Amino acid sequence: MCGIVGCILKEDDDVAPILFDCISKLEYRGYDSIGLATFDGGKIHIKKDKGKIEEVDKSLNLTDMPGNFGIAHVRWATHGDPSKLNSHPHVDEENTVAVVHNGIIENYLEIKEELIGEGHRFKSETDTEVIPHLIQKFMDEGNDLEHAVRKTIGVIEGAYAIAAISVNEPDKIVATRKDSPLIIGLGENGYYLASDSPAILKYAKDIIYPEKGEIAILDKTGVVVHDEFDNAVNKEIETINWTPEMAEKEGYEHFMIKEINEQATAVRNTLTQRENIQNIIDEVGDLQRICFVACGTSYHASLTGKYLIESLAGIPTDVILASEFKYSANTLNDKTLVVFISQSGETADSLKALDVANKTSKTLGIVNVAGSAITRRADYVIQTQAGPEIGVAATKTYVAQLTSIYLFAALLASDEELLNDLDNVPDFIDEVLLQNDLIEELSKRYNYARDFFYLGRGYSYPTALEGALKLKEISYIHGEGYAAGELKHGPLALIDEGIPVVVIIPPGDNYRKTMSNLEEVKSRGANVLAIGAEGDESLESKANAIISINPDVKEIIAPLVYIVPLQLIAYYITLEKGHDPDKPKNLAKCVTVE
Ligand code: F6R
Repeated sequence: MCGIVGCILKEDDDVAPILFDCISKLEYRGYDSIGLATFDGGKIHIKKDKGKIEEVDKSLNLTDMPGNFGIAHVRWATHGDPSKLNSHPHVDEENTVAVVHNGIIENYLEIKEELIGEGHRFKSETDTEVIPHLIQKFMDEGNDLEHAVRKTIGVIEGAYAIAAISVNEPDKIVATRKDSPLIIGLGENGYYLASDSPAILKYAKDIIYPEKGEIAILDKTGVVVHDEFDNAVNKEIETINWTPEMAEKEGYEHFMIKEINEQATAVRNTLTQRENIQNIIDEVGDLQRICFVACGTSYHASLTGKYLIESLAGIPTDVILASEFKYSANTLNDKTLVVFISQSGETADSLKALDVANKTSKTLGIVNVAGSAITRRADYVIQTQAGPEIGVAATKTYVAQLTSIYLFAALLASDEELLNDLDNVPDFIDEVLLQNDLIEELSKRYNYARDFFYLGRGYSYPTALEGALKLKEISYIHGEGYAAGELKHGPLALIDEGIPVVVIIPPGDNYRKTMSNLEEVKSRGANVLAIGAEGDESLESKANAIISINPDVKEIIAPLVYIVPLQLIAYYITLEKGHDPDKPKNLAKCVTVE
C-alpha cells in the first residue's frame, strides 16, 4: 500500500509546501520512501528518495520546489526494494510525464518487455514505471493527457489509483482509479486528490469519489469527471465532518496512544448509530445465517460477533478470514447476511470477497472510513464513529467495530439489558485509562520476554487473540492468543519458567474454568499477568501481577473494556524496545494488495 496526493492551486503560489503537508498526513500508508513532482518553467521537477519523510525532507528540502501544481507519493514497497530509483514519482525517458501510483500492476512484466522491444528504457524495478512510459507513448501518438491515461488503463491490469502530469499539457492533473482508493477534494484555494481524507482535511472538506474507470481532470478552474465513454459525470459532492485536528497528535507522543485515549468517545459516538442499525435489521428481514468476513483486528471483532449473535439471537453465524473466503463461499444464499468489517473499507481481500457475496446474499459493511469502497459496494452500511485512525495498529476503530456489533446483536435479539449496559462502557474505558501510569510501569517488567501467551474463554477469547496481535505487530515480540481451554491440547508444552501469560478473566460464567487454566500455567512456572475484576482476592493470590477492572463490567461486555489494558501493554512494551508504535516495520494501515 502507498499514499498519493495531488494539488493544483487556483493562484500562482508554490504548491510544494501544501503537497508536502498533505503527503505527510499519509505516512501511515507507507514510510519507506517519499517523492514530489511539480511543474514550472516548462519542465517537471522531482525530488524523491528512500527513507522516512522527515529524513528525506532534511536532505532534499522537499517544500522548496517551484510551480503551482504537482503530485506526491509515500511508498510501501511491493515491487523493488525501497531505493531512490524505485521511489515515486516515476517518469518516462524524456521526463515529459510524471506519475504517482498506489496499487499493483499485475501484467507489468509483459508490458515492460513490449515497451523495451519498442525502444523504451527503464530505470526502476517497479511495476509503476510502465505507466508514464505508456502515457508518453499514447501522447506521442496524438492523444491528449486524458486520453493517453484512458488508453493506458485499457492496457494495465490490477489495482491502481494514479495521478499524472505532463509537460506537453501543463496546468492539469489527470487521475483515475480501479480497486485502490482515490478521493477528489474541492478546496477554497485549489483542487486536490488523495488516497485518503486525512491528507486533505485541512484544505478541502467537499469530496467527490471517482468510481472505477472514471477519469478526473483537475485544473485551476475546477474538476471534471468523465466516464469511460467520455461523458461528463455529474458527481455527488459529500462533505466530510472530520476536523483537521482529528488527524493530528494533539500533544500525544504517538497517534496510537492518542487513539487509545479516544476510545470512550469512539464508543459513545458509535452508540448513536442505534437507529440506523435498527432500520437495517428491519429492512434485511428474515435471516437464516450470518457470515462475517474480515482480516486481522477486524476478524477478531467479528469473532466476538459470532459469540454474541449465536447466543443472543440464535442465528448460526460463521466468521471467515477474507483471504480464505473464496475457498469456502459456495454455501451462501439470499437468506444469508454477509457482514464485512473493515476500518479502512479498502482492504483488497475483503473487497474481493464482497464482490462474490454480492452475487448471492445481502451484504452489510461495518466501516470507519466514509466513502470507502466497501461503503459503496455493500447493500447496507454501518459507519463506526471512531474518527480518523492514523496509528497503523487498530485500537479505537476496534472498539467502535465492537460497539456496532454489540448494538446489532442486542437489537436483533431485543436485549434491552445489554443495550443499557452498553451505555456504561465509555466510563469503564475511561477508568482503565486512569491506570495508564501503572500499566506503563508494569510493562517494564516484561522487557526480557521473547514470547507471550494470551488466554481467554468465550467472549474473552477474541480479546486474547487481539491482545496478542497488538503486541506482535508493534513490539515484534512473539505473542500467541489461545482459547484458555485449548492450551492443554498442545501449546501447554511451550509454557516454561518465566514465560509471560496474560489471562483475561472477568467475573462471570467462565471464571472458574479460566481460573483452572491460570493455575495450569502458573504451576508450570509462567509469569501470570491477570486482567480481572478489582477486589478479586483469589486472583490476587494466584497471579504475579494484576490489572484491575471495575467489577461491574460483566463478562458479556468485557471485550469492549478488557482490550484497553492489552493495547496499553503492547504500546509501552514497544516503547521500552525502542520501536515506533505508529509505524511498525513491514505493515501499512490499509492493505490494498491480496
Ligand atoms: C492490526 C490491523 C490489521 C487490520 C487488517 C484489516 O492492528 O490494523 O490487522 O485489522 O489489516 O484492515 P481493515 O480493518 O482496514 O480491513
